[in-house]
Amino acid sequence: MAILVTGGAGYIGSHTVIELDKAGFDVVIVDNFSNSSPEVLNRLKTITGKDFPLYEGDILDRDFLVSVFEKENIDSVIHFAGFKAVGESVEKPLEYYHNNITGTLVLLDVMRQFNVKDIVFSSSATVYGMNNVVPFKEEMPTSATNPYGYTKVMLEQILNDVAFSDSDWSVTNLRYFNPIGAHESGLIGEAPNGIPNNLSPYITQVAVGKLEKLHIFGNDYDTPDGTCIRDFIHVNDLAAGHSAALNYLFNNENLGFDAINLGSEKGYSVLEILSNFEKAVGKEIPYVIDGRRAGDIAVCYADASKAKKLLNWEAKYTIEDMCRDSWNWQKKNPNGFKD
Ligand code: NAD
Ligand code: UFG
Repeated sequence: MAILVTGGAGYIGSHTVIELDKAGFDVVIVDNFSNSSPEVLNRLKTITGKDFPLYEGDILDRDFLVSVFEKENIDSVIHFAGFKAVGESVEKPLEYYHNNITGTLVLLDVMRQFNVKDIVFSSSATVYGMNNVVPFKEEMPTSATNPYGYTKVMLEQILNDVAFSDSDWSVTNLRYFNPIGAHESGLIGEAPNGIPNNLSPYITQVAVGKLEKLHIFGNDYDTPDGTCIRDFIHVNDLAAGHSAALNYLFNNENLGFDAINLGSEKGYSVLEILSNFEKAVGKEIPYVIDGRRAGDIAVCYADASKAKKLLNWEAKYTIEDMCRDSWNWQKKNPNGFKD
């Protein structure tokens, strides 16, 4: 019995593979390396001592997925594969809708064909949109402001409808808040292509000398220091959330659709994160204040009580741990997996 991990070579997927292995699950990875490197598999082997079965291919390719299900005894699926860059999704909506939505439809259809009806899906806090009040709770209305966000809102609806149509399905829909950090070995971590969109890799690339200075998008928000507040969560905590979600799926039957937040419940401002990174790095990190970025909300943090209740999971890592581990990864791999 194995867990199929789509997108298992990616940032969150690779950390989850380690966690699943530690928890005793057999893992099969599918990835097309559109946003990751085959080198990840070597690093996973160094960390775990294992060669995980890797099928290089696209989840849009039905025949490819069928061949994986024919060869492996898949019991359930953790579905990370998808595109995730908000800005790029505005420029390339068709590519985003096709990869994220069609890709998931093909995967669900093949799962149904093989009678595999347990899935853990990577959703996002982005589905809370612009109009909810923190802390975000699962029952709040969902919405989006960009094609990437809409793919998550739509996929949640699709998964909900699938679970409603056939009670054999169990869907654990995890809404991640802001994942940062890296495995403590410094062998795997977040390796964005080109200039990072997200705060943490941008800061560490300034610290390592690849970028000149951080641009802070707005200091006129209604927050104590004027910069936005986010719920940062260590990627290892997220990984542990997936293994908890699998246990939940295995110990209960016919769960239907459950949306569950994975967040730390703590909000840190952009300036607070910067100052924590300065401590981790041991030097000042230059920055300028720019105008607001379109689509940003002032404050975002989770109510994670549902995860605690259903999954017996809560975030353990501190913001100091997150900044230390992100920096450890960046300084050992200034060019990501190209080093
Ligand atoms: P990532 O880009 O590092 O990983 C995604 C992986 O999926 C990559 O290895 C990529 O090559 C692969 N992939 C993409 N399309 C594929 C396809 N059609 N077929 C096969 N493989 C494909 O991203 P991540 O940060 O690890 O995110 C994983 C999931 O979590 C995504 O669905 C993302 O939307 C979601 N998520 C991420 C964040 C975040 O901030 N990182 C926050 C919320 C939700
Ligand atoms: N920020 C800067 N400068 C930068 C990058 C970011 O000031 O160079 C600020 C942003 O304005 C925001 C905060 O840092 O206030 C966090 O921004 P990120 O881009 O790191 O993260 P977001 O909260 O915008 O979004 C991230 C993912 C989304 C996901 C969401 C919730 O990019 O895909 O977390 O999980 F949906």
